[in-house]
Amino acid sequence: MEFNKIAVIGGGTMGNGIAHVFALKGFHVSLVDMSEELIQKSIKTIEGNLDRQLKKQLIDERAKSDTLSRISPTVGLENTPTDTDLVIEAIYENKEDKLLLFKKLQTIIKQESIFASNTSSISITELASASRPEKFIGMHFMNPVPMMKLVEIIRGYSTSDSTFNVIKELSLKIDKVPVEVHDYPGFVSNRILMPMINEAIYTLMEGVASAEDIDTVMKLGMNHPMGPLTLADFIGLDVCLAIMEVLYNGFNDSKYRPCPLLKKMVAARKLGRKTGEGFFKYK
Ligand code: NAI
Repeated sequence: MEFNKIAVIGGGTMGNGIAHVFALKGFHVSLVDMSEELIQKSIKTIEGNLDRQLKKQLIDERAKSDTLSRISPTVGLENTPTDTDLVIEAIYENKEDKLLLFKKLQTIIKQESIFASNTSSISITELASASRPEKFIGMHFMNPVPMMKLVEIIRGYSTSDSTFNVIKELSLKIDKVPVEVHDYPGFVSNRILMPMINEAIYTLMEGVASAEDIDTVMKLGMNHPMGPLTLADFIGLDVCLAIMEVLYNGFNDSKYRPCPLLKKMVAARKLGRKTGEGFFKYK
């Protein structure tokens, strides 16, 4: 299957990274968000990230301008081109919103195309039920997308082998390493990562150590490149909470209960880097 046109829905942290990577590799991408302001912010972020790659001599001026020229900023879901071959959804981690979105897309996008979700934890089988189950798949990229090699490819209950194979091939084409994963809450990455982050937040809440010291223990003691609280700020505390809730409800197991401090910080909109403050402060 040829993927000539790709649409990325949601131009936030993940969506702008996904659009960046596909456009850099020569694909035409419609980047869709809800307002002109949001979409311009997203394009600006991509430009800034391309500049960073340029400075590091990973790309040249030509690649930068070609990449930007392949991205069509699009306002409103209804303006997604109907002849898109692959739609990658990267909106908020909310099941109802995602289901609604795929229901709408089902009426807009041609029947042969594939729908993918970048969800961190929501069941691909459930999301697929709103549209085209055999042509529906999880493509879980890692943050920041232009730098991180992994993509978890999640098979829903009805995902066909041909859908899986073309998406695996496509992931290799954009220089990612695809790993096949089956559809259970949190898949592999977040089933293991999030409980560790949640436990770091409990450790902070119980006053065992300061945020800085918790991160230092994990960096120097476990050789993690980034401490769990810095990583939580980077991912977004709202996203972390949403994932913990999916694990908690999906397994019905109290070991996944979200830490009350995490809930309180999300309620206070201390979401990490994106709001300027989480466990640490950002300029
Ligand atoms: P974000 O909050 O940074 O961005 C979401 C974007 O979607 C916003 O720009 C918003 O305006 C847009 N949006 C919301 N509803 C829309 C609609 N109906 N139509 C068009 N645009 C819409 O969120 P983020 O962090 O990029 O997460 C997106 C998805 O990726 C979530 O499912 C999340 O779980 C997943 N994810 C997040 C990672 C992270 O480190 N933040 C890592 C891997 C996956």
